[in-house]
Order: sequence, then C-alpha cells, then structure tokens
Amino acid sequence: DSVPLEMHKVRIVQKLNLVPIERRLEAINEAGNNTFLLKNCDVFMDMLTDSGVNAMSDKQLAAMMEADDSYAGSATFTKLEDKIKEIFGMKYFLPAHQGRACENILSQAYVKQGDIIPMNYHFTTTKAHITLNGGTIEEIIIDEGLKTTSNHPFKGNLDIAKLRGLINKHGAEKIAYVRLEAGTNLVGGQPISLDNMLEVRNVCDEFGIILVFDASLLADNLYFIKNREEKYKDMSIREITRIIADLSDIIYFSARKLGCARGGGICTNSHEVYMKLREYITLYEGFLTYGGMSVREIEALAVGLEETMDEDMINQGPQFISYMVEKLDKSGVPVITPPGGLGAHLNAMEFVDHIPQKQYPAGALASALYLISGVRGMERGTISEQRDADGNEHFANMELLRLAMPRRVFTLSQVNYAIDRIKWLYENRKLIGGLTFVDEPKMLRFFFGRLAPV
Ligand code: F0G
Repeated sequence: DSVPLEMHKVRIVQKLNLVPIERRLEAINEAGNNTFLLKNCDVFMDMLTDSGVNAMSDKQLAAMMEADDSYAGSATFTKLEDKIKEIFGMKYFLPAHQGRACENILSQAYVKQGDIIPMNYHFTTTKAHITLNGGTIEEIIIDEGLKTTSNHPFKGNLDIAKLRGLINKHGAEKIAYVRLEAGTNLVGGQPISLDNMLEVRNVCDEFGIILVFDASLLADNLYFIKNREEKYKDMSIREITRIIADLSDIIYFSARKLGCARGGGICTNSHEVYMKLREYITLYEGFLTYGGMSVREIEALAVGLEETMDEDMINQGPQFISYMVEKLDKSGVPVITPPGGLGAHLNAMEFVDHIPQKQYPAGALASALYLISGVRGMERGTISEQRDADGNEHFANMELLRLAMPRRVFTLSQVNYAIDRIKWLYENRKLIGGLTFVDEPKMLRFFFGRLAPV
C-alpha cells in the first residue's frame, strides 16, 4: 500500500468534538437531514468542502501581519498583481470576494438571452449565474467522465467532436464562451489533461470564441498533469501553469480553494476584457485594489499562489484522497475511480441501490453517514440540481456523497476512522431509507432545503 507522507508539520491545532450518537440524531433532525444545516460543534470530521478550510502556512500567516490597508492603491494589492503576472503571465487582475462573484460578473458581461455556453461540466453556482442571464449550459465532458468507475486518467476532458458539433449546430456567434473547469467538481474532482485544453484552444481559435478557465481546483489538476500525463512529467509545475494560462483568454478562480481561504478573482491579458469587466468589480465587489477581499487575505493569497507551485504542497490533497479511495475500493465500497482531487466520492446510486433516485440516495447517504460517524459530507446529486423551467425534477447524472479532503487538515488516523465508519455503513446499508423535501427553496435548494424520511 502506498501511504501518503506529510511534507509539513502541525504547529497549531483545534480541538474536535465527537458528540454521542443520541446528540447526532437530534442534530441531523434539527438540520432537516441537510448536512449544510449542521452546526460545527456537532461535527467530528468536517468533510463538507475544501472551500475556505484548507490549512494555511506559517508564511501565509506571517504575510498577513504586514498587509497595507487602504481603499485605493494598496501595496498589498500590487504584490498580488505582481504574483499573478509572474505565475500566469497575465497583465490584469480583477479581485472579487469569491468564485461565484467572478461568475456573476462574467455571466452579466458575456451571456445574452439564448446564448450557449459549452463546458466540460457545470458547477452549481456557475450554472445558476448563466441561466439567470438567459444562457444555456451544454455539458460535453467525454463519455468516460460520467462512468463511475474507470481508469481513465483525465475523466474531466471535454469532448472535442461534441464541441465542434455544438458550434456547427448553433453558429459561433451564439456561443458566449467555452468554459473549462479544472478538476470538475461535480463529477468527482476529475482533472483535464493539458493536451485536451490545448485542443479546445485550437477549436476556439478556429471559430473566434473566448476560452474561460475556472481555476478553482487548479492545484489538484496541476498535480495530475505532472503525474498522469507522460508528455509533461519533466516539466515544472510553474511551466505547466504558464501553458494553461497562455491558452486561456480569461482565468477566474475561487481563492477559497486556490491559494488562500477567502477571495477570488479574474485574470486576463486582454485590455478589452479588462475594460469590459472593470465596472462590474466596482459595482458589486469593491474598489479595484481590494474587490471585497481584506488586505490580509490578499497577502495570504499572493503567498499561497507561490506555494501552489511547490509539488510537495499540492500533492497532499491527491495523495490523501487516493489513499482513502483505494482503501474503500478494496473493501468493495462503491467509490468514484480513479481517485481525483477535492475529495473521495461515494457512489450513492450503488451504495444504496434500494433507494430510488427520486428519494435522493446521495442526500440519504450523507445524513446516515453523519449519524453513525460524525463525519459530515456533502450531497452532490439530484438535490444539488435545479428543477427545469416547468418545475420538473432534473435527475443528476451521478448521485455522489462527496467527502472533501481539506488540504493538510486531517491526520491519516482520522482518515482511517472515516474509512472504517464508511465500511460499517456499507455493510449495514439496508438500514438507510430515502428522503423527501419538506421545505424546498427555488434557487440553489441544496443549501437551505429541509428533508424528512419518506
Ligand atoms: N467553481 C468551482 C469549480 C468551485 O468548486 C466553486 C466552489 C466555485 C466555482 C464557486 O466559488 O465558493 O468561492 O463562490 N466550490 C465550493 C465547494 C463551494 O464546496 O465545492 P466560491
């Protein structure tokens, strides 16, 4: 077995609680069986997300202490701008308070009623902003990407033939932009290969279409390119990053996952794009030299982006995830393979195959796992989808329970605890029943929706 080796040591710790099962039962009832509504004091291992909860380094904390606070023209912002120029080679950086703020701005600026936005796969907030502005997303991930078990190293790749098909069908002028998402969040954190990105770039060039790259999960994706794409194994992380940046017209990211614990931003080399987006930043986010971020976060982000260029740092997530996925897989627990970034993903459709999709198997599994272990995961299945314009349920392609692996946060013993409890739950899976909504919000219902056993 390959066991991950931590290339860091722990110097600050936070006490955890493992409350008794009686309290967990109360807590999950109070939360309407929605793990988003649990309180942290009732959670033992918080594997809800890797957003805003990755461990920061001593260097990041030190940098936060020397932030230069000012509304306009802060030296801290210049530091980040210079780091973006150095790493991505991009002249312009527009700061935003987080990833979805970038999506709001890009959708308002580029998506018109009736536009098509092809992408390898959507993310919840991405799709919500695009549809809010009258656009339609087209998911053209390779077929292999939707297979739960596979040994394809890059299940996040975009199907080039399908992209050409869409352009021919609708005409290039109807395509607002093509969006590529690093480490496709909703289908198991599966990476895109660098060759695939380059091919997408060629098609965009051929038809004069803008290419937008969502780099929120870039760190994991860089690791996978270096370790799974033979052609690029001798290239440095920095060199690979530069190729990705050079092929993108616009890069945006949630800094809650990339480089920091808060913030986000949009990078481009195009003066035209910069001028088009600039006003939205001041309108929605804040002045151009902070964009809703505190200067302390901006300092930490500049350091965090530099640390993302270090393979010893970015390998921690993928190695821990791979350990967990392989252990579960060997025990017969249905998991998404190959291991990706972000976290381990249980395949609920198979785990609880006695629960029909309309009773939200992934949501039911999330609730049950919390109850028996105190481990909090996140439903990434039909509950996370939106109903169509006529109010019909839109069944997700995959019913996943995502167990995110915040980077450098958990010890291997804690991961082993989670594995042990998941194995127990799998052996006793028939105890789990389906769920139904008792309170269903119209938009992004997974955040606040409340459910009850059927
Ligand atoms: N794009 C991707 C690929 C993401 O994973 C996220 C956030 C966003 C955009 C939006 O960024 O949260 O800063 O507004 N993903 C988080 C998650 C919420 O838990 O997977 P944000």
